[in-house]
Amino acid sequence: MKITGTGSVLPKKIVTNDMLSEFLDTSDAWIYPRTGIRYRHVISDEKLEDMAAEASVKALENAGIKAEDLDMIICSNVVNEYVTPSLSCIVQGAIGATCPCLDINCACAGFIYALDIAESHFKAGKVKNVLVVCAEEPSRMTSWKDRSVCVLFGDGAGAAVLTEGDNIKGIKLSAASATDKLYEKRILEPTPYVAKEEENVPLQMKGQDVFKFAVKASSGDIKYLLDKLGMDAGDVKWYLLHQANMRIINSIRDFLGQPEEKFPTNVESHGNSSSASCPILLDECNRKGLFKPGDILALSAFGAGFISGAVILEW
Ligand code: COA
Repeated sequence: MKITGTGSVLPKKIVTNDMLSEFLDTSDAWIYPRTGIRYRHVISDEKLEDMAAEASVKALENAGIKAEDLDMIICSNVVNEYVTPSLSCIVQGAIGATCPCLDINCACAGFIYALDIAESHFKAGKVKNVLVVCAEEPSRMTSWKDRSVCVLFGDGAGAAVLTEGDNIKGIKLSAASATDKLYEKRILEPTPYVAKEEENVPLQMKGQDVFKFAVKASSGDIKYLLDKLGMDAGDVKWYLLHQANMRIINSIRDFLGQPEEKFPTNVESHGNSSSASCPILLDECNRKGLFKPGDILALSAFGAGFISGAVILEW
């Protein structure tokens, strides 16, 4: 398969580090050097499903195909207003598609996992056009009283249209269960047999453990693919890494020994938008005309689970 269109949408509300310091014991001087984040876009009166649909429409327009041409929609999402129906079904109705729909929750690595699922369907000859849409609102998962977590995230939606082609060179998926490092818990309905005693637990994170995992997993996934494909790091023109934290990006860059200009970023103005991060960055670079046909791109993402993945593709 190949990527033929991209789209993205950000919420209009911009929250700067200084705005956070009005109600949290934090500061730009603490946040920026540790994360590279200056501000993030946060949902206020938007609905995540509308953003997902709008990003999808932009990707379809960019690819020059219609919603009715789609053979599958894969939506990556950790949390939204609906437990059921799936977000992909909501998007399907909103954009006027009629194809099968599938939601996945692979945390921040969702875009890479979705590409792998799509690629398998292309290889099986089952599809000609697939929409992958990643829509996330981590701002609704964190406690806005917890300065160690809420400052890191922003919301957004990113989408990509995939059509037949031979541009995916390799995909590596990884998972290493470590469920106490990054998690959120919701309470379910009580039953006659289960008392409702627990409380919701907003997103919890052991930041330093996540940092170490992220660098190791992302570097390992990319290195694995480069070795498997007989390439070296210099053969990749653009590295699009999960935009969680500038220090993580720089550590992976150091490992790969590649120059800064190969690593486009938007973490400064977006924060970490979970699985939407990679496709939003992809769309922004695509619309700036950064990629030329034949360019080799490496995308890599990591997150709760721990789950990670990387893809090397030709533009
Ligand atoms: N503002 C001010 N102080 C803060 C703060 C904030 N927003 N958040 C935490 N602190 C404080 C802590 O309370 C702690 O204070 P103490 O020493 O008095 O106990 C101090 O800063 C250091 O906290 P620590 O957690 O050790 O900081 P750190 O240097 O590890 O940086 C992260 C924290 C989160 C920036 C860093 O661990 C990180 O980037 N982790 C990866 C996070 C990530 O990317 N997650 C998503 C992956 S998908």
